[in-house]
Amino acid sequence: MAKYTSLGQIDLPCVADHYGLDQPRLAPLAGGAANSSFHLTCGSGEFVLTILDNHDRASAERLAAHTTALFDLGMPTTEVVPTQNGSLIADMAGRPVILKRWIAGGVEAPLPIRLLPDAGRILATLHTLTADAPELADLPAGTRRLSPAQQATIAEFTDTDFAAWLSERLERIQTLEATHHRAQVIAHGDLFDDNLIVRPDGGLSVLDWETVSLDDPLLDLGMAAVGLAREDGLLVPERLRALVAGYVEIAPLSEDDLRALPAEIEHAALIIAFHRYYRHNVRFPDPAKSTIHTEMIKFVESIEHTAQLDS
Ligand SMILES: Nc1ncnc2c1ncn2[C@@H]1O[C@H](COP(=O)(O)OP(=O)(O)O)[C@@H](O)[C@H]1O
Ligand SMILES: [Mg+2]
Repeated sequence: MAKYTSLGQIDLPCVADHYGLDQPRLAPLAGGAANSSFHLTCGSGEFVLTILDNHDRASAERLAAHTTALFDLGMPTTEVVPTQNGSLIADMAGRPVILKRWIAGGVEAPLPIRLLPDAGRILATLHTLTADAPELADLPAGTRRLSPAQQATIAEFTDTDFAAWLSERLERIQTLEATHHRAQVIAHGDLFDDNLIVRPDGGLSVLDWETVSLDDPLLDLGMAAVGLAREDGLLVPERLRALVAGYVEIAPLSEDDLRALPAEIEHAALIIAFHRYYRHNVRFPDPAKSTIHTEMIKFVESIEHTAQLDS
């Protein structure tokens, strides 16, 4: 099992002390999808408290600095609340914790199609930001892609059919990508419906900058298509068109880009397929989840059948 913190393990007086909170109350987040995140309510307002189980202090500090820089640049995202000492991360018995201001509203999955243009505009806005804020100077490049070490492990997968399918397709896409050069932008890396809050005013806020990196905007748009244009496991052309329609209002795409997009959607789906297989079959074997990567095989087939943006 992955490591998560349960409500009973939270040292609430310690948290209250770090942040100067008056009589905080904690509740698990509705929906249950969140791991190690809790809804915190107290006299001074509503917050989300997250125990960053998979981070050390340095990587937690980076996540908090990136989130804050993107908030300061005007992205509709969570505001990180500093401790009384002005630190963006607090220590709870050796675990890094972060406090974020609560955003009213909720996750809607699947995201209604009428909101997809807005999601596209938000992604394009991110892609047009310049990364010259000092807090963004250390953004890693290309980390949403599979590393050479990760690709090497594919050959060891017990499901050899899946391994062959994945390696062949990755190789084909990497060859294709080598012929196109696109300038790197700030990429979210995980614009899925569970990282979007639909606010009461109807607008969207983006969460979760764990996978932020510098990368090809089309791979990030491809990842958003995997997350947001998929319904019942398949790519839905109307949903893709709605996402892209919003995107191009802010960041135009050339004909070449539009032709390259299906391959980038596939690349994103292959990355997700790898992580699903690796997580549930290699890292934390779980029979109940051992086949969820196969959804991505059907999804990739659906790209081939339907991803004509001009149809
Ligand atoms: N600032 C916030 N306001 C309201 N809800 C939030 C906020 N931050 C997180 N959440 C909720 O917690 C869930 C998980 O948060 P997220 O930051 O995406 O963490 P992770 O995906 O790493 O568990 C979200 O899907 C959302 O429901
Ligand atoms: Mg998330």
